[in-house]
Amino acid sequence: MSVSQGAKIYVAGHRGLAGSAIVRRLTDAGYRNLVGRAHAELELADAAAVRAFFEDERPEHVVLAAAKVGGIVANDTLPAEFIRENLAVQTNVIHEAWRAGAQRLLFLGSSCIYPRDCPQPMKEEYLLTGPLEPTNRAYAVAKIAGIEMCWSYNRQYGAQFLAVMPTNLYGPGDNYDLRTSHVLPALIRKAHEAKENGAAELVVWGSGKPRREFLYSDDMAAACVFLLGLPDERYAALVRKDALPVINIGAGEDIGIRELAGLVCEVVGFRGRLVFDPSKPDGTPRKLLDTGRLAALGWRAKIGLREGIVRAYDEFLREHSGQA
Ligand SMILES: NC(=O)c1ccc[n+]([C@@H]2O[C@H](COP(=O)([O-])OP(=O)(O)OC[C@H]3O[C@@H](n4cnc5c(N)ncnc54)[C@H](OP(=O)(O)O)[C@@H]3O)[C@@H](O)[C@H]2O)c1
Repeated sequence: MSVSQGAKIYVAGHRGLAGSAIVRRLTDAGYRNLVGRAHAELELADAAAVRAFFEDERPEHVVLAAAKVGGIVANDTLPAEFIRENLAVQTNVIHEAWRAGAQRLLFLGSSCIYPRDCPQPMKEEYLLTGPLEPTNRAYAVAKIAGIEMCWSYNRQYGAQFLAVMPTNLYGPGDNYDLRTSHVLPALIRKAHEAKENGAAELVVWGSGKPRREFLYSDDMAAACVFLLGLPDERYAALVRKDALPVINIGAGEDIGIRELAGLVCEVVGFRGRLVFDPSKPDGTPRKLLDTGRLAALGWRAKIGLREGIVRAYDEFLREHSGQA
């Protein structure tokens, strides 16, 4: 059954970067029966609590955007927490969604599921074709288990669970804590602080040579709502029993970290020098998703990188600059 605007939709992780954008987009699109629980109200790693929640609420559709996420340092230093918590959260939510009779479910994964030396751009079928990047292996393995769980439930139980793989996101509600943040919000904060302190230079981790792809969270949310709301036949084609139910969500283009840092400094208004610290790890040389499957369905990203950074910096100034 396709998704009606009155259908009850549970967005797990509705206060996070991805989840909050999905709630904004669902609301704008007229979906009016949304359910959410803050982490403090519902611990998704607690199987009994998740079961009770689903038995009580019985959502018709689910978007699973709750996860323990972090940048390279957090992933590399807390692998046990990343694998345990993510496996627990996704196992509980996917299983209880199925038990409670949910129809469509979107499971948010990430581009780190693809092999470290994956051919670029990365197509969905490259999953499990080579070794993973070691720094976020625990997180990636948990996400791959989530994809396999969606596919297994589709195959064994006829569920309609779809795993969506967004590229690096940024936008309102991002994490600007330099100990745990991703590269783009970290650059925004560092450039802002350098400008405020009148610094002569800004140090960027690594050589500046790797290339990465960035998608504004509202664009990612638009793609998720587009997929969730597809007519039956088109949605069913994505969750066929004989094919991995995975679809990439990306911007379709990448940028070098050196150019990205320059763009952030320009938007923020920091006019000092950029210095690269090659003693810090670069990670994979290039990471760009192949978005051909999504494009073939008729969806493309709309918010360009400069416009997105302007919007993100505005929000940073409103929400975080007091702590900077
Ligand atoms: N950020 C990116 O660049 C990016 C890129 C690709 C894919 N994704 C995917 O998008 C999803 C969400 O990421 P995000 O960036 O939006 O992360 P986020 O901003 O940290 O949001 C995650 C949300 O999940 C909640 N949560 C985490 N663990 C929970 C638990 N055990 N029980 C209940 N709630 C819990 C968090 O609540 P608390 O904060 O209160 O713990 C938070 O509201 C993840 O699956 C991630 O893989 C993100």
